[in-house]
Amino acid sequence: MLVIAHRGASGHAPENTRAAFRRALELGARAIELDVHQTLDGELVVAHDDDLRRRGRLRRKLKSLTWEQAAAVDVGSWFAPEFAAERLPRLDDVYDLLPPGVELHVEIKHGSSVYPGIEERVVALIRRRRVQARTLVSSFDHAALRALRALDAEARVGYLLGLTSLKTAFREMKPLSAESLNMSLRQTTRRAVAAAHQRGYKVLVYTVNSPADRDRLAALGVDGIFTNYPELDLWRS
Ligand code: G3P
Ligand code: MG
Repeated sequence: MLVIAHRGASGHAPENTRAAFRRALELGARAIELDVHQTLDGELVVAHDDDLRRRGRLRRKLKSLTWEQAAAVDVGSWFAPEFAAERLPRLDDVYDLLPPGVELHVEIKHGSSVYPGIEERVVALIRRRRVQARTLVSSFDHAALRALRALDAEARVGYLLGLTSLKTAFREMKPLSAESLNMSLRQTTRRAVAAAHQRGYKVLVYTVNSPADRDRLAALGVDGIFTNYPELDLWRS
């Protein structure tokens, strides 16, 4: 079962920061998940929320900020004072940190309806950095996944289930040539896992932070878990 560091090692360092990604690598993570938004001037920035209120004490939406403005915000000290120097990374900056063998799960928070051209930018970055083989793009915004697939026949795609029914999900995943069905811990039943596997999809589950949940999911045959504590990989029973 693949253990994917959710927003980096976000149990140990401020989520979606260089510190969280470095910590995940130190803990031996072989895969990392992060969330992507787009600034007013088209930079792909790594953050979970649409604004920086929760993690940067700034109410403004990322889509209304220039990269220069967004890059000035302290996104670390909410977690602990020693992270006060943390600034928003761009997606490009994160690839600079990752050794070649580490897989990156890039979750696009919104497609072009909110962030015009974001799918083109993600595809262009993945191509320019030649990281197609180790990048999986996922989204709850299934229109964004369709746009991405239309631009790139090779991209690895993860379908985040969200509020969509399994029936609709499977209908939409086929033309997307999705690789995985990504769902929450609560949504993960034996039946759902079996139905996905029967259709040839991996099942990746978020957010799994206890050995008990990890072991339950492993018993269901789940292929991977997103966790804030990538050391879960070491505490195998
Ligand atoms: O990609 C899995 C997980 O990150 C989805 O939920 O809200 O943590 O981005 P969220
Ligand atoms: Mg995410």
